[in-house]
Formats: sequence, C-alpha cells, structure tokens
Amino acid sequence: MSEQSRRPRKPAKPYRRPQKDPVRFLAFEALRAVDERDAYANLVLPPLLRKAREQGDFDARDAALATELVYGTLRRQGTYDAVIAACVDRPLREVDPPVLDVLSLGAHQLLGTRIPTHAAVSASVELARVVLGDGRAKFVNAVLRKVAQDDLDGWTEKVAPPYDEDPEAHLAVVHSHPRWVVSALWDSLGGGRAGIERLLAADNERPEVTLVARPGRATTEELLREDAAVPGRWSPYAVRLAEGGEPGAVEAVREGRAGVQDEGSQLVALALANAPLDGPDEKWLDGCAGPGGKAALLAALAAGRGATLLASEKQPHRAGLVARALHGNPGPYQVVAADGTRPPWRPGSFDRVLVDVPCTGLGALRRRPEARWRRRPEDLDDFAPLQRGLLRTALDSVRVGGVVGYATCSPHLAETRAVVSDVLKQRPDTELIDARPLLPGVPDLGEGPDVQLWPHVHGTDAMYLALIRRTG
Ligand SMILES: C[S@@+](CC[C@H](N)C(=O)[O-])C[C@H]1O[C@@H](n2cnc3c(N)ncnc32)[C@H](O)[C@@H]1O
Repeated sequence: MSEQSRRPRKPAKPYRRPQKDPVRFLAFEALRAVDERDAYANLVLPPLLRKAREQGDFDARDAALATELVYGTLRRQGTYDAVIAACVDRPLREVDPPVLDVLSLGAHQLLGTRIPTHAAVSASVELARVVLGDGRAKFVNAVLRKVAQDDLDGWTEKVAPPYDEDPEAHLAVVHSHPRWVVSALWDSLGGGRAGIERLLAADNERPEVTLVARPGRATTEELLREDAAVPGRWSPYAVRLAEGGEPGAVEAVREGRAGVQDEGSQLVALALANAPLDGPDEKWLDGCAGPGGKAALLAALAAGRGATLLASEKQPHRAGLVARALHGNPGPYQVVAADGTRPPWRPGSFDRVLVDVPCTGLGALRRRPEARWRRRPEDLDDFAPLQRGLLRTALDSVRVGGVVGYATCSPHLAETRAVVSDVLKQRPDTELIDARPLLPGVPDLGEGPDVQLWPHVHGTDAMYLALIRRTG
C-alpha cells in the first residue's frame, strides 16, 4: 500500500449543480451572437430581453443590468483584452471565443461596474460552469482572481504603453478604440491630448435618447409632457428623454408623428432645408434615404412650404422603411428604390438635394458598441468611389442655383473633406456655402465652410455636412 493511499481520504465535496443566473446568461448569449453571427448588439438584445421577460422572473432592473453588461463589455473590449492578456499564459487568440466572452464579461463587472469583487467573480465562475463546464470554470476563476487584484486605472497604467512613447497606442488601450480609429479621429479633430481624450471617453458613454417632433405633425410641447423629458440643445424640434426613457411608450412616436433621431441628424436636415436659394423651392430629393430619419423631417418641412420630397434608396427593404417613416406626412412625397449613382430622374430636376452617404459610421460609435472592432481601414477604400459617385450625381440632380447637402455620420477626413474637395475640383459649376450660420446657436463648428459635429462638444453623433451650390 502506498503512503498516499493509507492517508484518511478527505471527503469529496458533494457535487453542486451550477445555478443559471438569467442576467449573466442572457448577456453571454448576446455576446456570442455578436461574435459568431456578426450580429448587432442593438438588434440582438431586444428580442432576448423580450423573451426573458415573457418567461417571467426578469424585471426592468435585470434588463437594465443585462444591457449594461453587454454594451459595456463590447465598448471596453480593447481595454479588457489587454488586461486579460496580462493574466493568461498564452496568446488571447488561443483562448476559445466563448471562454473569452465569459472572461470579458467578468472583467467588465470587476473593472467597469460597482458590482462587489466576490459577486463578480463568483457570478462569472457560475456562468462558466453553466456554459463552459467545470474544467474551464476553474480557468475562469484563476484568471478573474488575477484581474481582481487591481482596479481599472491600475491596470491601464500597467498594460497601456506610456503616452510619451506612443500617444495613439496609449489612448487606444486606455479608451478602448482600435489604434487606427484613434489616429483618424485625432486627425479630424486636431488639437492636443485633452480634446481627443474627451472625444474617446464620450464614445464610451451611452447616448441620450433624442426625439424629433416632426413639424406639422407633433410639437415639442406635446413631447415635453412625457416624464423627465427636456428640450433639445440645438434643434427646435428636439426633445431629450431622461435615462431609461422608452420612446415606444410615447404616443406621438407610436403614431409616427415624432421619431427617434439624434440632434446631429436633425441639424443636417434643417441646415439643408434653410440654405438660401435663388428661384423656386418646390422639389426636394433625399438620394440615400434609408431608413428614413432625415427624409421624414425633410418631408415634413417641405410640406410646410408647399414643396414635395422624393426619397430614394437603393435597397428595396430599406426603401420600405422609408415609406413607413414617411407615412402620414401632411404633404406630397414619393418613395422609390433606385441607385443614386444611376438615377432614373432627369438632371437638374431638384431645388434641394441631400446625400447622406453610406460610410464607416465612425461618428456613431456610441450607438453601436461593436462597430469599432468590425471596421477595417480597408473599408474606406470600398466607400470612396461610391461616396464620390453619389455626390457627383447629386450635383447633376440639382438645378442651377439649387443646393446639395453632402453628409456622413463619420468624421474621417477620407469620407468628408477629401470626397468634397476631390469632386468639386472637377466641378467649376459649384461653390461651397458656409454652413455654420445655418446651425444657429451651435458653437465650435470648425473653421468652415463645412461643419463637423462632435459627441464630446455637442452631445450629438459626429455628423459632417458640406453645403454646395450649383452655380451654372
Ligand atoms: C447613412 S445611410 C442614410 C441614412 C438616412 N439618411 C437617415 O437619416 O435615415 C445611407 C443609405 O444609403 C443607401 N445606399 C447605399 N448605396 C446607395 C446607392 N448607390 N444609391 C442610393 N442609396 C444607397 C444605404 O442602403 C443606406 O440606407
């Protein structure tokens, strides 16, 4: 008999079945869908939350926590990856994605929320037992205990390269953005460290819900009767809802008389609608209308002046969304599915034209927590010819004396000024209009004549707008 076998045996711990915590389990399911199916968190979460509520035992606080866990984990993924990499003994690419999701969820609870350390670790280990099995739960336990040894500031000091050695790499880790995105945003924003830090921090905040009261259909007074609603900052049609405000509960939104729309998008539509024009002001075009936010505001403004809007969108299903957004508009409008680079309408037909072109969306990172990790610098090359083509046909579509608005929800210079200057170089029949006076009361719009909005300055998405007059 060996020495070991003679020792009295420690009684084995009775096996305990893992407890499924519905909030963490739902958050994990959402992260897996984002990773495996390239799903969008803002589309995946609502049905999962609805299903959990229908099954009972899942209240509004659970839904808020699950949402915070998913959004926070995705936004902060860059920082958490760097921390987790310092706590495991192999490259992160060799850690199975579901294990990494459990670790990231745990890291977010430990470093990005007020959940007590022991609760964050034990909830994560329990989740790991449910979704990964007992063996890998031990690994999760060991890694998260290391993560728990410091707070977020302590960790970023350890894992981020020093600012003085490599400012962009430092900011990328501290503010959880891909380095090329930090670089592009900084190029566009200009200035020193303070500004870019505020912008990157703003990208990690949850945006307020802003409504638009579509003129002639709803009023801001009506929307302001909602609980904790306050007026918008810049747009006369905007109303902001306090945290947790549910747009679906607002009658005017349910009836399509109001909509959910960032104030930056409202300002773009308003600036185009108010740009000075010589001659008639009767025919307006939105050449990239889907899903229809700006088109609905433009159509309502056009109706107030006796003008009509043609809303055009290449993707038929998105044209359907435009038709839904415009339904009930008080004046005439038309929705068509058409390629804006090969339009079916005659050149020079319109007095005002908007092209809100497809882009990387780097100006709306607050809304799409996973977008920054999906985008690649090469995407810019894919968009470049389309953006130029759409602006060229927009300029052809407007009559002499009419105005085109070129808009993006990206501040990347390759999608904003580079497109406008490339196209206008070959168009001596055009001139840029100073857009700044058309956003009255809005400060810090840049040196003009185009305008760039910023989340950290204006509380809006980083929308860009150039207004161009066709001079003949
Ligand atoms: C940034 S979105 C427009 C957002 C819209 N203005 C709003 O406020 O709801 C760009 C739209 O252009 C559409 N698009 C892409 N290529 C197009 C093309 N060649 N012609 C017309 N629309 C196109 C996309 O399908 C997408 O719906």
